Amino acid sequence: MIIMKVVDVLKSRFITHSPLIVTHLITSLCNARCKTCDIWKKSSEYKNDLLKEDIFYMLKKAREGGVIWYTAWGGEPLLRKDLPEILKFAKENNLITTVITNGFFLKDKYCEFAPFTDFLIVSIDSHDKLHDKMRGVDGILEKSIEGIKLLKKSKIKTKIIINTVISKLNLDKIEGLCKLSKELDVTITFEPMEIFGKYNKHLRPTKKELKKAFSQIMKYKRLGYRIGNSFEYLQNFSNKKFYVCHAPKCFIHVDARGNIFSCLNKKWGNIKETSFKEIFNSEQYKEFCKNAEKCKICDVSCVIESSLCYSLSPNFIWDKVKNIL
Ligand SMILES: C[S@@+](CC[C@H](N)C(=O)[O-])C[C@H]1O[C@@H](n2cnc3c(N)ncnc32)[C@H](O)[C@@H]1O
Repeated sequence: MIIMKVVDVLKSRFITHSPLIVTHLITSLCNARCKTCDIWKKSSEYKNDLLKEDIFYMLKKAREGGVIWYTAWGGEPLLRKDLPEILKFAKENNLITTVITNGFFLKDKYCEFAPFTDFLIVSIDSHDKLHDKMRGVDGILEKSIEGIKLLKKSKIKTKIIINTVISKLNLDKIEGLCKLSKELDVTITFEPMEIFGKYNKHLRPTKKELKKAFSQIMKYKRLGYRIGNSFEYLQNFSNKKFYVCHAPKCFIHVDARGNIFSCLNKKWGNIKETSFKEIFNSEQYKEFCKNAEKCKICDVSCVIESSLCYSLSPNFIWDKVKNIL
């Protein structure tokens, strides 16, 4: 199985240049009322979420297209009752799985879905009461921490990562968050707030604020805290952006209704009508990937880190090797 995946990675990197990861907005339903994300405002649209059978079809087609990794986010993925079945199906089809959650239901549900989850990203934006305020949910920090502790104590081998979005609200919480990740013995990653639509755009930190925050994060990484971001990514906030964007060669996105997108809202079709293989092999897709190489709009970690990985940047690779060691 591992050999098959290695072959897929090499094929994608050196021959087809088609994405290895599908990220799926598995439900529009959300229990949180976040200050940095407005997806919860579309909660009522959850009736249009793909059915389990459609998702199975999508996963099969994604695998046929050379995809090796399935990431479920939302909305809140743990609100889907059939999440365990979907993840189990993904694993049976030889996909690596990631779930991104706000952690509220973690302690009650980890036994059901975590056995089929390779990576669990728990979103925590502050180590204190501010987190509940930022998420608009009382008790969410405590519940997330309890869930992380229970999952770590269990025999389930899921790798847990805390993800923090840096906005104007939590610029002074970096030390506390690094200490929390150390106390919980899990990796933590940071990324700057992206502006979704125009929602709360005043909360996006200035360049100067981001530079200060990310150099503080670098300081904690040097001190040995388990910061998952590479130094090369963190440095993008102090220096001029020097990465070449390869994101569309690494990721493809599927929304709650099954529409297939690349970045910049470029729509390619719907999973029910168009196959991933068809899209990836098309001249238009190849041209889109080529044009993306000149784009430097993003500063979120998934875009830059995947681009650095695709570029086979020696510093990036060394960083990751050190993390594993
Ligand atoms: C939109 S959430 C959905 C999944 C789940 N409900 C959660 O909260 O983790 C997916 C990830 O995006 C992050 N996020 C939220 N708002 C963001 C923003 N404005 N820019 C970048 N990432 C953001 C969240 O913290 C989370 O890690």
